[in-house]
Amino acid sequence: MNDILQSVICSNRCWTSKGKVATYIPELSKGNPDALGIYVITCNGEEYSFGDFETKFTIQSISKVVTLMCVLHDYGKEKVFQKVSVEPTSDAFNSIINLEAKNFHKPLNPMINAGAIATVSMLNGNTPKEKFCRVLKFMRELAGNANIDLNENVYLSEKITGHRNRALAHFMKSTNIMDGNVEDILDVYFKLCSIEITCKDIAKIGAVLANNGVLPWNKKRLIAKETAKIVKAIMTTCGMYDASGEFSVSVGIPAKSGVGGGILAVVPNRMGIGVIGPSLDQKGNSIAGIKVLEELNKKLNLSIF
Ligand code: DON
Repeated sequence: MNDILQSVICSNRCWTSKGKVATYIPELSKGNPDALGIYVITCNGEEYSFGDFETKFTIQSISKVVTLMCVLHDYGKEKVFQKVSVEPTSDAFNSIINLEAKNFHKPLNPMINAGAIATVSMLNGNTPKEKFCRVLKFMRELAGNANIDLNENVYLSEKITGHRNRALAHFMKSTNIMDGNVEDILDVYFKLCSIEITCKDIAKIGAVLANNGVLPWNKKRLIAKETAKIVKAIMTTCGMYDASGEFSVSVGIPAKSGVGGGILAVVPNRMGIGVIGPSLDQKGNSIAGIKVLEELNKKLNLSIF
């Protein structure tokens, strides 16, 4: 497996120069556009890696998966899906148009910014700090890494520049999709996006989903099988934003990207995969990361379809 990972990283490095690191959050522009790395954890607990897998990056939208797991676990699907639907959008992750025009103002799914902000508003906790810690603690358990923490500089950069997310949140407040104080909810959302991780951490989260909610390394159940199933289904249809259909055809596995350059991918009953490549395509997905997963699919027959 290590040889296969070496081969897919080496043959796709050239793609890193064809994209750009995110700059709309100024602190993200410091990401290394040349980095490319992969980490794989199987459902038997075996670990494989190659390339720049030790590169630290912020989780960004991949946190949406963990927030969704938390609210489904705490409230159940009926309550969660009253606030947010599960339909793909074919629009950009930060698009505002559908909130007014479609679906009775309800965000279309929890993987776009509007839907994630709505799920953050549901998190258990009396204060923004408690809500943030609910997800951080759960993420640490999923990844088996007590050192996962906030990148303060990215958080402040997001908070200062997050006007688009403010627009989404205030709109949802005006249509009664969201309860609570808008700035408090956004503060939790910005912090969750700014958690610093490596592709080993996201591979571990992926391995728990692949293993139907059970930690492969100690057999402890963290979430119900049904929750893991719902999350994987939504990742498959919505996780790569308006490139989710294309990704389903070319790779065919549940996955979630973030503008920090990470991709968390799940091969059900087989493995969790974490990829880092901060150079992004026009839709905000890691340009080389997708190519790596496409080639890995060809070599290991990963597609669930
Ligand atoms: O809200 C934002 O714009 C970012 N914190 C997260 C967006 C993101 O990761 C989209 N991913 N491809």
